[in-house]
Amino acid sequence: MSKFIPYGRQCVDESDIKAVVDVLRSDWLTTGPTVDAFEKAVADFVGAEFSVAVSSGTAALHTAMYALGIGPGDEVIVPAMTFASTANAVAFQCATPVFCDVDVDTLLIDAGLIKTKITARTKAIIAVDYAGQPCDYDALRKIADKNNLVLVADASHSIGAEYKGRKVGTLADLNVFSFHPVKHITTGEGGMVVTDNPDYSRRMTVFRNHCITTDHRQRAEKGSWFYEMVDLGYNYRITDFQCALGMSQLKKLPGWIKRRQEIASRYDRAFDGLSDVKPLAVASNVSHVYHLYVVKLRNIERDKVFSFLRTAGVGVNVHYIPVHLHPFYRERFGTKEGLCPVAEAEYERILSLPMFPALTNEDVDMVVSSVRKAVSQHTI
Ligand SMILES: Cc1ncc(COP(=O)(O)O)c(C=O)c1O
Repeated sequence: MSKFIPYGRQCVDESDIKAVVDVLRSDWLTTGPTVDAFEKAVADFVGAEFSVAVSSGTAALHTAMYALGIGPGDEVIVPAMTFASTANAVAFQCATPVFCDVDVDTLLIDAGLIKTKITARTKAIIAVDYAGQPCDYDALRKIADKNNLVLVADASHSIGAEYKGRKVGTLADLNVFSFHPVKHITTGEGGMVVTDNPDYSRRMTVFRNHCITTDHRQRAEKGSWFYEMVDLGYNYRITDFQCALGMSQLKKLPGWIKRRQEIASRYDRAFDGLSDVKPLAVASNVSHVYHLYVVKLRNIERDKVFSFLRTAGVGVNVHYIPVHLHPFYRERFGTKEGLCPVAEAEYERILSLPMFPALTNEDVDMVVSSVRKAVSQHTI
């Protein structure tokens, strides 16, 4: 095989490497000024007031759940079609994730179904901007306000996206980003929560540092050794050199988003006449930033197409197994088939095609012609 195109991949250039090396030569490797600078840069980019950087998107979700005081006996509504972390963050706090089915065309949480999931124990909704398309936040806000729930956005896929001209990062009470290498910008591992709420921000800043009220730099500046741990927290800190990478990457984000959108348009045009390969629907009032480019296959065995494409050098993937079908959730929470029938059925038909800014038009055309071949050979 001459070339393998992965489904996603980071872009790291010499300017990123220099930014990291500069910080490695500085006094602060963690809890230093580059963490603050990255937090401010992301907050400014999305137009949010506060931001708390942590060691992963998963840690960011957990930190958000802590900020809300989610605990035993509480329920949080999450979509079935997401990465496990969205629900895990609820389980970390010994609360119950309540799975809601998704819209058949977009695979975003089905706002119309949420009210059937609300009980006296429900405290929050976590919406997931699956693939990079913002959810219908006006509808979600209405439901949240009417039922006194907090709205959290798992925006791990959607930094830079917009809903009705408003930026992701400002659409929910707490908004979570991931900086894993396949995401729009990377810090290696990393995540962030942005919010306009100062109380949430304070709670999250303390939680990521063991729930100790001061960090190392604050004590150094005060010439003090004294600290107290006020609750059970975690070490979810991110390092300064990771944040240096993040700052350097953030400068390139608008260009990368534009390229992802161009690639998506090229795929869209190519699949326009192919009735058995259907891209997910995109709402007319959003700017979709395409973390993933997902198609649904009709009259074709997905797993055969998957194997064919992998053998042809096309790194396709499947996002996601509906979370309630994972053994942990079945065993701990008693979830099973039939709970979210749309997510379960669509899971069998979806395929994520390669999507990252460094893909050339020739790469995209090669993926398209391989998909055409796969479809012609595996039509049922
Ligand atoms: C929707 C969603 N939420 C949360 C996460 C977790 O992010 P991380 O890998 O940075 O922990 C991911 C990562 O893939 C994700 O796709």
